[in-house]
Amino acid sequence: VTTIVEADPLAVGLIQPSVPGTPARLGSVDQLVHHLQEDVSELVVVLGPSVCLEQACLVAEQYRAMRPALAIVLVRECMDSSVLAAAMRSGVREVVATDDVAGLTSAVRRAEALARALSGGEQVGEARPVAGGLITVFSTKGGVGKTVVSTNLGAALADLGHRVCIVDLDVESGDAAVMLSLVPERSLGDLARIGGALDEDAVESLLTRHSDRLSVLAAPPDLGVVVAAESVGQALALLKGMFDVVVVDTGGSFDGHTLQALDHSDLLVLVGTLDQPALKNLRLAVGTLDLLNYPRDLWRLALNRADPRVGLSVAEFEKTLGVPAAVTLTSSRDVLVAVNRGETLVRSNGGHSTSRTFASFAARLSQDISLPGRTQPHPRRTSRRATRVRRAA
Ligand SMILES: Nc1ncnc2c1ncn2[C@@H]1O[C@H](COP(=O)(O)OP(=O)(O)O)[C@@H](O)[C@H]1O
Ligand SMILES: [Mg+2]
Repeated sequence: VTTIVEADPLAVGLIQPSVPGTPARLGSVDQLVHHLQEDVSELVVVLGPSVCLEQACLVAEQYRAMRPALAIVLVRECMDSSVLAAAMRSGVREVVATDDVAGLTSAVRRAEALARALSGGEQVGEARPVAGGLITVFSTKGGVGKTVVSTNLGAALADLGHRVCIVDLDVESGDAAVMLSLVPERSLGDLARIGGALDEDAVESLLTRHSDRLSVLAAPPDLGVVVAAESVGQALALLKGMFDVVVVDTGGSFDGHTLQALDHSDLLVLVGTLDQPALKNLRLAVGTLDLLNYPRDLWRLALNRADPRVGLSVAEFEKTLGVPAAVTLTSSRDVLVAVNRGETLVRSNGGHSTSRTFASFAARLSQDISLPGRTQPHPRRTSRRATRVRRAA
C-alpha cells in the first residue's frame, strides 16, 4: 500500500523502518508514474530526499486531481518555510525531516488512515473551492499556551500563503493583540454597536491588520463588556467567507463564545501541558467534547512545554486521554522572550526549532482543512448539543 521513491540506498534505510509492511521501493519519479498506473490500490507515496522539490511538487499536483485519496509524504534534509509552502500548495500531505524517524512513522500512519478513509468513502469528486476553514484553539485551563499557539499558528499559516484572521474569544482577558504588538481601535466589544444585520463590511471594520495576510479581531480592551454569543457566531461565519483560515483563541472554558467557535470549527486544537493538573483538566475537556458529540477526528492534541524531564510522558498523556498527540512543543525561553517583545517566534526567529514545529503543524492543519473531501463543515450538532449540555448540567 505504500511506496518509497528514493535512489540512495542509505536514505532508503532511514525511511523504510517507518513504513509498515513491505513497501515497494522505486528509484525515480518516472518509475513511480508507471507503478501508479498499474497499482490502483496504492495509498501512500513517500518521496525521499533525493527527489528534487520541483519534481515532488509536480507529482503531488498531478495526483491531487487524478487520485485525491493518494497521500504524498515528503522527506527533506532541510525544512524551511519555503519548502513547506511549496509542498503544501502542491498538495503534499506531510513534510518530515530526514532524521525525524518518529515523525515519519506517525506521518505515514496518519496519511494511510486518511487515505483509507477517503478512498473507502463515497466518491470524492472534484475539489470545489470552499469557504475558509476555522481552527479553534482550546483548553480548559489557563496559562497552557493557547494564545502562544494561536498567534504562532496564525503567523505560520499566513507565511504559507493563506489569508488568516485570528479571533480572540477570550473576552475577559484576551491578550492576542498584546502578543502581536497591536493596539486595536475596534474589537469584539463593538459588535453590539453595529446596527442592523451583521455583514462582511461591518465585520471588516472591526479588524486590526497585523501584517501581510494576517488580521486580528481583538478581544475588548476593557473589562465588563458584554459580547453576545449569537453575534460572535454570525461574525465567525462571515469571517470564514472572508479569509482562508480563521484561528480562534479561546478563554479556557466551555462558555457561550467557545461553543459558538466549536460549532463553526473544522478543526479543534486542544492545548495541554505535561503536568497532572493539565491532564486532569484535559480529561474533563475530552469528556465534555464527547458529550457534545464533537467528532474526535477533528481534534488535534498539542502538548506544550512537553519536556521529557518533568515527569509525565507524552505516551502517558495519549494513553490516559485516548487521543494521539498531533504536535509536541518544548519549553523555551525564546518563546517567552518573543511574547514579551510582542512578536511571534515563527516570525522573529523562523529557524528556531519551535518555529519549525509550528510551521509544519500549520502546514498539516491547512492540508487537513483543504482536503478535497471537505466541501462543507462537519454536520452541525447544535440541537443535540443543547439537550446534552442541559442533561450534563
Ligand atoms: N513553549 C513555551 N515555552 C516557554 N514559555 C511558554 C511556552 N508556551 C507558553 N509559554 C508562556 O506561558 C505563558 C502563558 O501562555 P499563554 O499562551 O498566554 O497561555 P493561555 O493563552 O493558555 O492562557 C506565557 O507567558 C507564555 O510566554
Ligand atoms: Mg490566552
